[in-house]
Amino acid sequence: MADHDHNKNSLDFLTKGRQSPSAQEILRAEGRPVPPVFETEQPRFLGDEDIPFSRYLDPAFFAREMTDMWPNVWQWACREEHIPEPGDYYVYDIGPHSALIVRQEDGSLKAFANSCLHRGTKFRPGSDCGGMDEIRCPFHGWTWSLAGALERVPYDWDVPHLKERDFSLPQISVDIWGGFVFVNFDEDAGPLADYIAPTPEHLENFRLEDRYVELHIEKELACNWKAAKEAFVENYHTQETHPQLLLGSDDEGTQYDVLGDHVTRFFCLFGVPSRLIDPRPSEQELVDQTLTGDRSLLGDDVIVKEGESARVVMARVLRRQLGEAYGVDLSRYTDTEMIDVSQYGLFPNAIAFPQLSLPMMYRFRPIGNHPERSLFEIVFLRPVPDAGPRPAPAEPIRLKEEESFTTVPGFDPILGHVYDQDTGNLRAQQEGFHASRKPGETLLNYQEIRIRHLHQTLDKYLADSD
Ligand SMILES: [Fe+2]
Repeated sequence: MADHDHNKNSLDFLTKGRQSPSAQEILRAEGRPVPPVFETEQPRFLGDEDIPFSRYLDPAFFAREMTDMWPNVWQWACREEHIPEPGDYYVYDIGPHSALIVRQEDGSLKAFANSCLHRGTKFRPGSDCGGMDEIRCPFHGWTWSLAGALERVPYDWDVPHLKERDFSLPQISVDIWGGFVFVNFDEDAGPLADYIAPTPEHLENFRLEDRYVELHIEKELACNWKAAKEAFVENYHTQETHPQLLLGSDDEGTQYDVLGDHVTRFFCLFGVPSRLIDPRPSEQELVDQTLTGDRSLLGDDVIVKEGESARVVMARVLRRQLGEAYGVDLSRYTDTEMIDVSQYGLFPNAIAFPQLSLPMMYRFRPIGNHPERSLFEIVFLRPVPDAGPRPAPAEPIRLKEEESFTTVPGFDPILGHVYDQDTGNLRAQQEGFHASRKPGETLLNYQEIRIRHLHQTLDKYLADSD
């Protein structure tokens, strides 16, 4: 790397002029324990050219994504708890591609192209999930074992030519991390752990495999899938879109990292006011503004004592509240693991939030084959109780574009309002792509680096197949 580029990758260069203290500066000043993976920074400068709007609109570009990118990447399909028993299956669709994931008799997983080898019919429809004894086509009844071996063809005297051919179901790569089942339509894909490195190592202590789906929301959006994801990878929009969050969100101090070709991160401290909040609230005011639920149940825990900060008190309260609510011992988590928000963006379309305050996974997909429609999914992943059975995963709740997140039963309406603010921008942005007399978008170098990174990794897949 040339010296010139090296300097541009330095944090000093990239954040010159920033006035808020960085997340790392605040953590160092606190002097509380922080896991090593949250003490590191990996800023990158990836260029500053505009990104063409055509990438969000053009059916030909969308078609290239479908032929050259989507079939060659690892993508999160479901959770292991969706398919716990032999014969349990889950259908994951992306554009025209469809994977039928099946739990085997020995407990392992296999995934097959979801298309009958007779005349092509899908075995099961998209997003279907259930149990079966064998894989059977609903059209003429050709039947395969759960392992994909052809077992039965009605009136097989009429297809003697089957005997010389392999009619096993074509397999799709399947792999697991943290209880998440991933598929890659490339049957020779390398290991998932390499593809999403260093995420498994960074998030080991969160034991995501010991979580369950408490709430699953699907929201239809009138925008390209990339625009949908990009609305959630920067904290820059908070000052305009979510001004009510500035009290507890260190927006300008948020950290942005490029951790690999497929992984980016942001790291935002909770309980630190934005510098736009003036005058700065007291530590007790910060605690009072961010607490939810019945304060009388919390007693003295919520009082900021001599020498304490709001962040210490919030972590203590949340450790107790969530520990009691979910029947888990959370004592092994540091304050930052309890309350702060780190996001691990996995190329192409998932974002993992491991922290206990907002434990989630997002997914963004085109709806069908539409460049300007997408589905945004939020899955809340709560810890499985230390004692007793694993709760069953929640069924998805689907919202149309015009329906509010605040209508979802069991979803905190304050948070629902935040998501309404986020998704409320996206139709206007997609329409603005069309209306623009400027050919592309201009990005911030540091705070919007994860958007540029998404496009550059996408380009690597498109170029590889040229
Ligand atoms: Fe937002």
